[in-house]
Amino acid sequence: MSVRRCAVILAAGQGTRMKSSLPKVAHPVAGAPMIVWAIEAARDAGCDDLVVVVGHGREVMTALVTARFGDTVRFAVQTEQRGTADAVKAGLAAVPEGVDEVLITYGDVPCVTAASLRALVSARAAHGGPLGMMVTAVADPTGYGRVLRDAAGAITAIREHKDCTPAERAVTTVNPGLYVVTRAFLGSGLGRIGTANAQGEYYLTDLVAMAAAEGGVAELFWEHRSLGGVNDRAELAAAEELLYTQIADRHRRQGSSISVGARIDHDVRLAAGVTLGPGVVLRGKTEVGAETVVDVGVVIDDATLGPRVLVKPYSVIQKCSVAAGAQIGPFAHLRPDSVVEEDAHVGNFVELKKTRLGRGAKANHLAYLGDGDVGPGANIGAGTIFCNYDGVNKHKTTIGEGAFVGSNSSLVAPVTVGRGAYVGSGSVVTVDVPDDALAVGRARQSNKEGYGKRLRERAKQSRG
Ligand code: UD1
Ligand code: MG
Repeated sequence: MSVRRCAVILAAGQGTRMKSSLPKVAHPVAGAPMIVWAIEAARDAGCDDLVVVVGHGREVMTALVTARFGDTVRFAVQTEQRGTADAVKAGLAAVPEGVDEVLITYGDVPCVTAASLRALVSARAAHGGPLGMMVTAVADPTGYGRVLRDAAGAITAIREHKDCTPAERAVTTVNPGLYVVTRAFLGSGLGRIGTANAQGEYYLTDLVAMAAAEGGVAELFWEHRSLGGVNDRAELAAAEELLYTQIADRHRRQGSSISVGARIDHDVRLAAGVTLGPGVVLRGKTEVGAETVVDVGVVIDDATLGPRVLVKPYSVIQKCSVAAGAQIGPFAHLRPDSVVEEDAHVGNFVELKKTRLGRGAKANHLAYLGDGDVGPGANIGAGTIFCNYDGVNKHKTTIGEGAFVGSNSSLVAPVTVGRGAYVGSGSVVTVDVPDDALAVGRARQSNKEGYGKRLRERAKQSRG
């Protein structure tokens, strides 16, 4: 019979050191609120049920958790912060019937991995005792509960920093605060915890001494780096850096080349074989297709890139889609609702807004294409502007398949250039151009023989 496991995630604290009106665990880190990382690690460690203990800012907390997880997460409320055991007691009341064991974690440790929690669960199962806990080693144990052992090395208790003797304070093996406990033991143990300690709080750590006397404590040593809690914005930044490393390493193992310093946010999806250069930032629900290369300094937000796309350095792409084989940049700006179809090219200093660039079409230099529809294979010359705004409304520019717009032309929308039509360089196009026509909308050139020379001589004379 499989074990039914529930996580109780403590998140009732205010986090005053964040100096923020937002509850601490609602702060975003690597593209998702801190609590989201904690919930997902517990879920991915095999917790069928999830309980979040909220207190400070609980309306904000429940709204943001429910928005992501729907009703798969339950909430328990701890109204007054009376200690970690009191918080777990509140959580236990929301643990459903039929749960065999409870995993206790925190909302403010976003770098804890599902793998480490799974290993903790396995360690307790192998040991068979009522409680398993993680232990870690730190250079400076100030503030942590110390791990106390008997002569044989078995854990006997956790002593909180403020309750330690000087000898106990010297212990550098500490309690990171992550446990897995049988439900039966948790229920009976919590009822026996009092507040006779230096802080007058209900210490969850008192469970450890009880478990030591009632079957023994299973322990799992884990490297401290991923277990650190976030209490202020400096620790938040450190956690974020580690999360970006964890995400990048996951994609590296799946066959993508991710430069050090590239940042892939929580909700981003990458196919295999992607290459990301230094300083690339992928945000929101961005998706990147197989074999796509995103070069130095590119920022992509909520966009979909197909396979084999090449994004050259320092381009910015927001809320739009780029199909297979397209090339973007360097220094291109794709704004929301733009669609770049297969093998199209968008070159340097070209801005697209709500514009479709058809299959194989090119806009290679210095252009603004707003509210446009550019047919397949069309060529948009350097300096072309779609004049889409009349000061009140936006209008559409349509360029037919295979049309050629000469450099430095202005297309005053609403306007259509037909299939296969040409627009002469420097034209201001205000009326529709039929298919296969040539439109020239500029003053005819006239040459005045010898006039340049005469001008120069006049200028020299006036200099005196
Ligand atoms: C706790 C442990 C300590 C361990 C340390 C690791 C106890 C008594 N001590 O100490 O052994 O080394 O964590 O970081 O458990 N919380 C609530 N309600 C409360 C109290 C706390 O929700 O009434 C939440 C906090 O929001 C926080 C977490 O529990 O996320 C830990 O509480 P905190 O007071 O920071 O524990 P420590 O004193 O650091
Ligand atoms: Mg405390």
